[in-house]
Amino acid sequence: MGIEDILMYDESLFQNINAFDPDYVPPNYNFRDTQMEAMAMSIRPALRGGQPSSAIVLGSPATGKTTAIKKVFELVEKNSEKVLCVYINCQLHTTRFGIFSQIFKKVFGHIPPETGVPFSRIYDQLMKELQKTGRSIVIALDDINYLFQSKNANKVVYDILRAYEEYPGVKSSIFAILSDLEFKYSFDKNVNTVFIPQEITFPLYTYSEIENILRDRAKAGFYQNVLPDDILEQIAMYTLENGDLRVGINLLRSCGNIAEADASREITQEHFDKAIESLVSVKISEALNSLSDLERSVLKLIADNEGMYTSGELSRIFKEETGSSYASFNRAVDKLEFVRLIDTKFTGKGAVGNSREIILRFSPDDYEL
Ligand SMILES: Nc1ncnc2c1ncn2[C@@H]1O[C@H](COP(=O)(O)OP(=O)(O)OP(=O)(O)O)[C@@H](O)[C@H]1O
Ligand SMILES: [Mg+2]
Repeated sequence: MGIEDILMYDESLFQNINAFDPDYVPPNYNFRDTQMEAMAMSIRPALRGGQPSSAIVLGSPATGKTTAIKKVFELVEKNSEKVLCVYINCQLHTTRFGIFSQIFKKVFGHIPPETGVPFSRIYDQLMKELQKTGRSIVIALDDINYLFQSKNANKVVYDILRAYEEYPGVKSSIFAILSDLEFKYSFDKNVNTVFIPQEITFPLYTYSEIENILRDRAKAGFYQNVLPDDILEQIAMYTLENGDLRVGINLLRSCGNIAEADASREITQEHFDKAIESLVSVKISEALNSLSDLERSVLKLIADNEGMYTSGELSRIFKEETGSSYASFNRAVDKLEFVRLIDTKFTGKGAVGNSREIILRFSPDDYEL
């Protein structure tokens, strides 16, 4: 097809292409009932005029945390006027003022003036309003690790949870959401006395859950019979082995695009292979871009001599050619393995039995090294 044909071709495989967008909220939201029930239990007291409790929501990327909290907040607000739910993306709002502006906006319908008004005044206005109306407030701080980076986490949590001391009757709680599981959060002592969260965890999805979710998504996004079962299964398997749910959702979309460009009425094996190929090639390019000059020259040496030498032999060649130490060669090899450009295998040979065989994980002819 020519470019114009591609643009104007009006038969589409997509019933709703937005179903594959990152902000699409699926009407069917399965496998997260336990977590959403726990969230609801924390908020429930507030619907009866009591104090909502706080929670820490933990789980790897794309396990559904953001979607779950948004769904629960929506339900709470649909059912009660007594509770205000504020969702804040801490990647976007990292300052104390920025965060309170979002809360202010929820309460008053507009953000406060950006200049000329001190924080204390805005805080005061906000808390007096909550006091006056008797509504309680539940604040989700999504990706709260960013607040630790900007060193605002303690202040913000403290400001929110300790408000009742100065403004009796104010009822507030926090849902802190965290996806970086390595991240060790710790609050100051004075915060720990008010922030006593329960933990709600989002486990990784299993294969059958992934398949189920992707099947639903395909149903919403494609016309009937566009996606054969065996392709869906391959997409689900690839998702399980190589990444998270977002990878699978993106793959669905790119398979659809490739099939459409091919003027096909359904997605075939060939379309799937092509989609994977371009995904892999993006990954390799990203990995190559992350290399230092030295790591890149080690990789080039490996590629030029593929399969001919062990790491020990290569390190000697590298030392002769560049004057770099064995240690920096070995560090570079570790990095290349870490970014999955190579695999290494101990051979049990070499002076101390630690020489490694190096295998390239991509075809060097396709990339500029
Ligand atoms: N149970 C589910 N059913 C349908 N779609 C889901 C489900 N869980 C996650 N998704 C989809 O996966 C994607 C990622 O979900 P979400 O953004 O809620 O994850 P997250 O845990 O907040 O991830 P991150 O830690 O990266 O912020 C979204 O497109 C969402 O619609
Ligand atoms: Mg999220």
